[in-house]
Amino acid sequence: MVEQPEGLGSGTVAGLLRERPPMDRALPGFDPAQAPAAPGPLFVEWLLGALAAGVPDAQVATLSTVDEDGLPDARMLVLRDVDTEGAGWLFAGDTDSPKGRQLTANPRAALTFYWPALGRQVRIRGEVESAAPEVSAAEFLTRSPGARAAAFSGPQSAPMASAAEYDADFTAALTRLAADPALVAPGHTVYTLRATTVEFWQGDRDRRHVRLCYRRSADWHRALLRP
Ligand SMILES: Cc1cc2nc3c(=O)[nH]c(=O)nc-3n(C[C@H](O)[C@H](O)[C@H](O)COP(=O)(O)O)c2cc1C
Repeated sequence: MVEQPEGLGSGTVAGLLRERPPMDRALPGFDPAQAPAAPGPLFVEWLLGALAAGVPDAQVATLSTVDEDGLPDARMLVLRDVDTEGAGWLFAGDTDSPKGRQLTANPRAALTFYWPALGRQVRIRGEVESAAPEVSAAEFLTRSPGARAAAFSGPQSAPMASAAEYDADFTAALTRLAADPALVAPGHTVYTLRATTVEFWQGDRDRRHVRLCYRRSADWHRALLRP
């Protein structure tokens, strides 16, 4: 059972939200003058800070893509690794899913992290590359049996008649994988978002937020942004 929040009483949703200003707590500072020349090491520092602060699912981000009609789409997913040298953020998904099809047609994306306990946001934009099939296959085989079975349980995000239909597919996939543990889902792909811009945003309860944007040309250029 999910615990329900207190009711609205005679209030309104707008009133309820007004009483809850975001980041109304002590937050760490951020001195952009101390920031490294490239964004990868600073991202890892902030990620480790979020993990140390106990932020749940600190490795989860919003991946934004654009569909064939130019309409933005977004969903959460897990960060798999960071290539600090090459400014690459790695994630995984299936080519036969809406996000996979969108990335095939338009391999550009954004990843957005938010770590509430620290009031920190990181926005990464760039081009998306697909790993070689053997790299994606090796990553697939590191996954839990449940995660692998899910990938063999029909196309992600396709409509289904009932939950029982998926349960049957999932159980059949578990049995199939138990018999052949080396099976790899054909569409499973490790993607790398190669950053062209990375913005670090440190929130402040008094709204004096600090924003540092790295932009890639031949080298990385840094600029402060108005909050
Ligand atoms: C915390 C969390 C982590 C997730 N991690 C992944 C992931 O690593 N890969 C993935 O394909 N979907 C992941 N999902 C599910 C996606 O948000 C999404 O529902 C799914 O990928 C289908 O998206 P699409 O229809 O845009 O392709 C995650 C969802 C949540 C809430």
